[in-house]
Amino acid sequence: MSNALKFSHIPTDTPTSAADREAILAKGGFGTAFSDHMVTIEWTEGRGWHDAQIRKREAFKIDPAAAVLHYAQEIFEGMKAYRGEGDTVTLFRADQNADRFNASATRMAMPTLPQEVFVEAVEQLVRIDKEWIPGGNGSLYMRPFMFADEPFLGVRPAHHFVFCVIASPVGDYFKSGPKPVKVWVSKEYTRAAVGGTGAAKCGGNYAASLVAQAQAYENGCEQVVFLDAAEHQWIEELGGMNIFFVQDDGHIFTTPLGTILPGITRASLIELARSKGITVEERKYSFAQWQADVASGKVKETFACGTAAVVASIGEVKFDGGSFTIGNGESGPITNALRDELSGLQRGKIADTRGWVRTI
Ligand code: PLP
Ligand code: COI
Repeated sequence: MSNALKFSHIPTDTPTSAADREAILAKGGFGTAFSDHMVTIEWTEGRGWHDAQIRKREAFKIDPAAAVLHYAQEIFEGMKAYRGEGDTVTLFRADQNADRFNASATRMAMPTLPQEVFVEAVEQLVRIDKEWIPGGNGSLYMRPFMFADEPFLGVRPAHHFVFCVIASPVGDYFKSGPKPVKVWVSKEYTRAAVGGTGAAKCGGNYAASLVAQAQAYENGCEQVVFLDAAEHQWIEELGGMNIFFVQDDGHIFTTPLGTILPGITRASLIELARSKGITVEERKYSFAQWQADVASGKVKETFACGTAAVVASIGEVKFDGGSFTIGNGESGPITNALRDELSGLQRGKIADTRGWVRTI
């Protein structure tokens, strides 16, 4: 059924004028501006996916009893369309976003969407809103998501869902731009426990992280680092990024999968680093050990990574009771090399030998 899904175009009456769009694109920033269109597909119990539409971006009309408003049955993805050399437009590992979306859907008792329909939906929106892709270091951030809109107050998986894709022209995620970021280690709040939803990209995980993120801001930091829920000592990930550490011998390591979001950037960097001959480990690492290793010089660099943030060096770490600076507080050579290689690939400037990049 889904393979036969045809996208119908609902004409857009008044797209943003070229002058207004250019003014919006010139502003940069993250997540505040949106393109003209969106994709929607509906799912009904017993019928499956239907009514795939590319239409004007507009507000949803949603019943006050819609399940998502009460029980947060919602998942999302984050990916980017890049404008590269000669005006080519690329997507990076879109199939991986589709697969993770379906893993999140399964965890949240929601219907899965065939990989090719997910990718087609994203591509259709990129094509129709191509003019919204900023040049330079910017990109068009694509946000596929799905929510339960059935009006029903009983607690059970809903019988009606909406899948939607919207797009937002973005620059740097952090206001500080490419400068190293400061992170706040939360000793009070955790993000995920074994058996919970840590590996799913569901809105509820982010809602639960906001109080810790607010504390990070209060302490002058851009992001929060979460520790494990059982012992409050093992580093997991940041509010919206995975984390890597670089040793003095050039080896790098990152925290293991399980309760963290399995980042596509994380997986890609592991592969890129290994193919450059760098030893990469996935292992448990405690906050106390990180502090000791930075003090002794064993850990020289630490960076955060994710679609929104790309590869962002961590310069300073703060926590209740102290702070420390990593290296000289600047972005280190391995962090820079991995960032350059990843960005080069994503933007079609470095040849892709792995089938990661789709040109649209
Ligand atoms: N961890 C969390 C909690 C995230 O929100 C993200 C961003 O999507 C990541 C890690 C990085 O994932 P990816 O590299 O797939 O964007
Ligand atoms: C992404 O990197 O795509 C995310 O969803 C994380 C969020 C901080 C924007």
